[in-house]
Amino acid sequence: MRPANLFCFDVTVAVVAVVLATATPSVSGQRPDYPTANLSTRWVNNAAVLPHSVTYSDGSAVCTIVLRSPQTLYGPSLAAGFFCAPPCQAFLFAVFIATFDSSYGISLEENNMARVIWSANRASPLGENATLELTGDGDLVLREVDGRLVWSSNTSGQSVVGMQITEHGNLVLFDQRNATVWQSFDHPTDVLVLGQSLLQGMRLSANTSTTNWTVSKLYLAVLPDGLYGYIESTPPQLYYKHGVSTEQKGKDLTKITLTNGSLSFFVQSTQAGKPDDSIVLPEAKSTQYIRLDSDGHLRLYEWSRFEWTMVHDVIDMDNCAFPTVCGEYAICSGGQCICPLQTNSSSNYFQPVDERKANLGCTPVTPISCQEMKNHQFLTLTDVSYFDGSIITNAKGRDDCKQACLKNCSCRAVVFRYYQNDSDGECQSVTEVFSLQSIQPEILNYNSSVYLKVQLPPSASAPTQKRIKAILGATLAAISSLVLVIIVGIYVRRRRKYQELDEELDFDILPGMPMRFSFEKLRECTEGFSKKLGEGGFGSVFEGKIGEKRVAVKRLEGARQGKKEFLAEVETIGSIEHINLVKVIGFCAEKSNRLLVYEYMPRGSLDRWIYYRHNNAPLDWCTRCRIIMDIAKGLCYLHEECRRKIAHLDIKPQNILLDEKFNAKLADFGLSKLIDRDQSRVVTVMRGTPGYLAPEWLTSQITEKVDVYSFGVVFVEIICGRKNIDIAQPKESVQLINLLREKAQDNQLRDIIDKHSEDMVSHHQEEVIEMMKLAMWCLQNDSSRRPSMSMVVKVLEGAMSVENCLDYSFSNANSVLSTQDNGSTYSTPPSASILSGPR
Ligand SMILES: *[C@@H]1O[C@H](CO)[C@@H](O)[C@H](O)[C@H]1NC(C)=O
Ligand SMILES: *[C@@H]1O[C@H](CO)[C@@H](O)[C@H](O)[C@H]1NC(C)=O
Ligand SMILES: *[C@@H]1O[C@H](CO)[C@@H](O)[C@H](O)[C@H]1NC(C)=O
Ligand SMILES: *[C@@H]1O[C@H](CO)[C@@H](O)[C@H](O)[C@H]1NC(C)=O
Ligand SMILES: *[C@@H]1O[C@H](CO)[C@@H](O)[C@H](O)[C@H]1NC(C)=O
Ligand SMILES: *[C@@H]1O[C@H](CO)[C@@H](O)[C@H](O)[C@H]1NC(C)=O
Ligand SMILES: *[C@@H]1O[C@H](CO)[C@@H](O)[C@H](O)[C@H]1NC(C)=O
Ligand SMILES: *[C@@H]1O[C@H](CO)[C@@H](O)[C@H](O)[C@H]1NC(C)=O
Ligand SMILES: *[C@@H]1O[C@H](CO)[C@@H](O)[C@H](O)[C@H]1NC(C)=O
Ligand SMILES: *[C@@H]1O[C@H](CO)[C@@H](O)[C@H](O)[C@H]1NC(C)=O
Ligand SMILES: *[C@@H]1O[C@H](CO)[C@@H](O)[C@H](O)[C@H]1NC(C)=O
Repeated sequence: MRPANLFCFDVTVAVVAVVLATATPSVSGQRPDYPTANLSTRWVNNAAVLPHSVTYSDGSAVCTIVLRSPQTLYGPSLAAGFFCAPPCQAFLFAVFIATFDSSYGISLEENNMARVIWSANRASPLGENATLELTGDGDLVLREVDGRLVWSSNTSGQSVVGMQITEHGNLVLFDQRNATVWQSFDHPTDVLVLGQSLLQGMRLSANTSTTNWTVSKLYLAVLPDGLYGYIESTPPQLYYKHGVSTEQKGKDLTKITLTNGSLSFFVQSTQAGKPDDSIVLPEAKSTQYIRLDSDGHLRLYEWSRFEWTMVHDVIDMDNCAFPTVCGEYAICSGGQCICPLQTNSSSNYFQPVDERKANLGCTPVTPISCQEMKNHQFLTLTDVSYFDGSIITNAKGRDDCKQACLKNCSCRAVVFRYYQNDSDGECQSVTEVFSLQSIQPEILNYNSSVYLKVQLPPSASAPTQKRIKAILGATLAAISSLVLVIIVGIYVRRRRKYQELDEELDFDILPGMPMRFSFEKLRECTEGFSKKLGEGGFGSVFEGKIGEKRVAVKRLEGARQGKKEFLAEVETIGSIEHINLVKVIGFCAEKSNRLLVYEYMPRGSLDRWIYYRHNNAPLDWCTRCRIIMDIAKGLCYLHEECRRKIAHLDIKPQNILLDEKFNAKLADFGLSKLIDRDQSRVVTVMRGTPGYLAPEWLTSQITEKVDVYSFGVVFVEIICGRKNIDIAQPKESVQLINLLREKAQDNQLRDIIDKHSEDMVSHHQEEVIEMMKLAMWCLQNDSSRRPSMSMVVKVLEGAMSVENCLDYSFSNANSVLSTQDNGSTYSTPPSASILSGPR
């Protein structure tokens, strides 16, 4: 009997491991592999310190209990264990696909994270020190720290002998004969992985949002004649259906399996192997899974090199046809969400849940009350339809349909569809109103009107009722397009109001503002976003032409969250101009589109030239010196010369761009925080990129000196012609900064000069080593000992010399991150990469 398993628990072991990891980083490929666990084992969720925990740069963290290493060197691993998303206070016991590098405790690639493919306790997340126990009699039990039972596999006494994670990601409890007693594949959550089946009676249920993992109302179910997507309500409302003809065989659909290249539908009578129907999917180049996302889409994700990408949307319908796209009661019209409006807009029946987030839906100003049914009325919406066309009542005609609804309090709306081929039309009653959809009857073969039940306010009810009746009568008599015109009119007015609001809030103080472009104009000048220059985490950069001038247009994706940051960036960069800073020519903030127009930098970013990924010729020494000087001057301007002191906070080669003549300019002020001259501490969450982070990110005040440190790292990278953290290097030299420290102590600095450059190795060695000293000055652990950027410029100009007694014990924030608490102190906001500059 073992009292406790140590993977997630023993503090002493973990600290030693961290120290070792810092000293001798190991290379990927030597990952631990422990796919099974034995009975009578208990794991404590204590993510503070442990060899098998990883904190990702997005702030999420995992602590593994069983793990199966990938078949390929850079593939992701499959593991079961504790998982948390930032701010890492609530944990799931989950199966996840994740990348590991046990030596660092932090994933090296920016966009990596663990993707949860199954979890036991979505509805009731755990706290720290909660336990998972595989008991002596074979039950897998999850308990809170106070002993409260959270979840159990209910397998005690079923002769379980161990737990295993399979190569597909199935968590299995098996018995002596190696037969499966319990498996996670029988209890899917929102994901199917390759090889996994959804059987009749099972559901995939979306979670509420990235941060709220509670099961939402959206689910997919396998019924005898097809795959159905519903939103829960009484009765459930249908939003998606993929029917399978089962008549010929007279048998039911039994399961749907995600296979390489398709989603396969199997009917009872057939042998496994040949599906009866399928939805074709892109072939799997590597690990894939499909997930029912919180917006109701069923998306296929694939691991490609170092990140997950969405490769296919299985439910490929108009976005407005999804039940939650605009929230309850709101009308989705061309991607915008608007609340239903009365023709007399000063007496609205609906108001937005949140003025600033139209997609959260609308609520009735006066809630429907079943006690006062006589005050119920209808608000007419012409040319509006509803996603669920399946619940047809037997009412004949429009008036019948509405009368029936007024008599039944649980009816909240009626939808009336009028087909050209049918004189009666179809009537549908709805008990819970989700998103509505505006339609254009000219291009469909039907008309549709929605009548929303509203409650007249009690006091004003009697007189208002009459007036509303009159208005309703008028509306009904009027041509349908009139109402549409009014709705559109009001919507346009509102939108204009919002735009004006934007300008008032964000732009009135700016003198030299960049130009505002319309989306149409930018689409035109980039030829429909056809020539892609590069891609950052959240947006792509496209080449374009405005007049005769070449420009780089960055189109931000997922911009809804990024608006504040976007405007902050436009504001910041609009007011500063310097030869060593990439110029922002214009921007576009239209609907949900956010774009930035930058001057075009023909030679791309610095990393292309110093990492030799494209077999380019090495830069000569003189060019490198100029680039270093340019970066220094750009930073010096930001820190000391411009109107407001600006810390960049994400200096790295990807953010340094080169023009035709290799003049360097800094890009990406998305992470900038304005720092008051007299109050330097402003940053409370960690920002930036692993590998370039100054050590004080972990401990103390953040000042512009973190840029000096990052500049130092870039400086060394330019001289040595490689990435600071490069896992392709031999084990002992993965971290360039560590190597620099050793070589400096041994006085062997020349060993690390870029070997590609004959010029530097043979002709300028002395000079290069002198420059390394300046770089090391910038890398001082103690931020107060680092030079200011103006001093750096002076040294580069020869007007000053490097301080003599340098401290060689440089360290990098990421090598000690794993000793930190469970991530709550350094969540990198996702906005970090939304606004990275052109790459
Ligand atoms: C489980 O038990 C087997 C045999 O008793 C042993 O070889 C193995 O190391 C144990 N596994 C773990 C993870 O403790
Ligand atoms: C979890 O356990 C550790 C060590 O036993 C303790 O230091 C910490 O305070 C505990 N955390 C909570 C939330 O109980
Ligand atoms: C285990 O049993 C409990 C109580 O009967 C039940 O609530 C729970 O859903 C069961 N767990 C599983 C995984 O079936
Ligand atoms: C048990 O089954 C797994 C896969 O299902 C297999 O990898 C393993 O070798 C089997 N073990 C024994 C003892 O048969
Ligand atoms: C999570 O979502 C559920 C329903 O979707 C809601 O009831 C609950 O309040 C949400 N929790 C948080 C913390 O927002
Ligand atoms: C999927 O099928 C394609 C073509 O048959 C093959 O090239 C690919 O390796 C397969 N992918 C996986 C993950 O097995
Ligand atoms: C919940 O769903 C969202 C989007 O559908 C996803 O980003 C997130 O990772 C999911 N959370 C978990 C714990 O699976
Ligand atoms: C709109 O309704 C309000 C009272 O609800 C009324 O005072 C106003 O005159 C109406 N406006 C129009 C244009 O009908
Ligand atoms: C009211 O409507 C609901 C839902 O459409 C239905 O289930 C119920 O039977 C109706 N009640 C009456 C009295 O008709
Ligand atoms: C009219 O056409 C629709 C779809 O085109 C069809 O579903 C419906 O059954 C038809 N109705 C009649 C009465 O033919
Ligand atoms: C829409 O309805 C109007 C009258 O309600 C009718 O005149 C018109 O033909 C209908 N259009 C279609 C496409 O059914």
